[in-house]
Amino acid sequence: MTDFLSDEFWNNRYVDGNTGWDLGEISPPIKAYVDQLENKELKILIPGAGNGHEVSYLFDQGFRNVHVLDFAPLAMQTFLERNPEFPTSQAHTANFFDFEGAFDLIIEQTLFCAIDPCLRSSYAEQSASLLRNGGKLVGVLFNREFDGGPPFGGSKSDYVDQFKPFFSEVSMEECYNSIGPRQGNELFIRLTK
Ligand SMILES: C[S@@+](CC[C@H](N)C(=O)[O-])C[C@H]1O[C@@H](n2cnc3c(N)ncnc32)[C@H](O)[C@@H]1O
Repeated sequence: MTDFLSDEFWNNRYVDGNTGWDLGEISPPIKAYVDQLENKELKILIPGAGNGHEVSYLFDQGFRNVHVLDFAPLAMQTFLERNPEFPTSQAHTANFFDFEGAFDLIIEQTLFCAIDPCLRSSYAEQSASLLRNGGKLVGVLFNREFDGGPPFGGSKSDYVDQFKPFFSEVSMEECYNSIGPRQGNELFIRLTK
């Protein structure tokens, strides 16, 4: 028996190949955002990165100060095997809620929907604590409900209430460029500490 949503629960999803969330490539809304970034020196964290398609895209585009984090050991091992050039010092097998650092940018892609919804305010607070002043949390959140979970859904008004206490600027807009099955069901978020 594994605790629901524990590191062991998630690691077993990778062991079993039960990873229906994995797009096999960078999420298109995040690619569009990354492609307009000019500063390749940004210190970037991608938490709950799984197989890390966003991480390898950024690294290949020349963002060398990108850090990958996931608490499922198999996901991290697979990422490093597929990306042998990636510095192991920037690969963290760790719990997001226990991690420490000061980043310019955190990229969110299906970690928020994977945690227990009762931890959402803690996620917002922890994201802010991992950013330097003026740093940004950017990415994609589901804008729909699901039966059960994970993934756990939600709506813009709930999210705004959860993030506003910790960020000075909160922007959440419907994505125009989601992958087919997620079209109309995603918000692109840009939050500034
Ligand atoms: C739904 S998967 C998404 C993976 C990846 N972002 C993607 O889109 O393919 C959620 C990921 O978050 C990780 N995760 C969940 N809770 C975590 C936590 N508290 N700390 C670190 N990683 C966590 C899981 O191990 C899993 O890899």
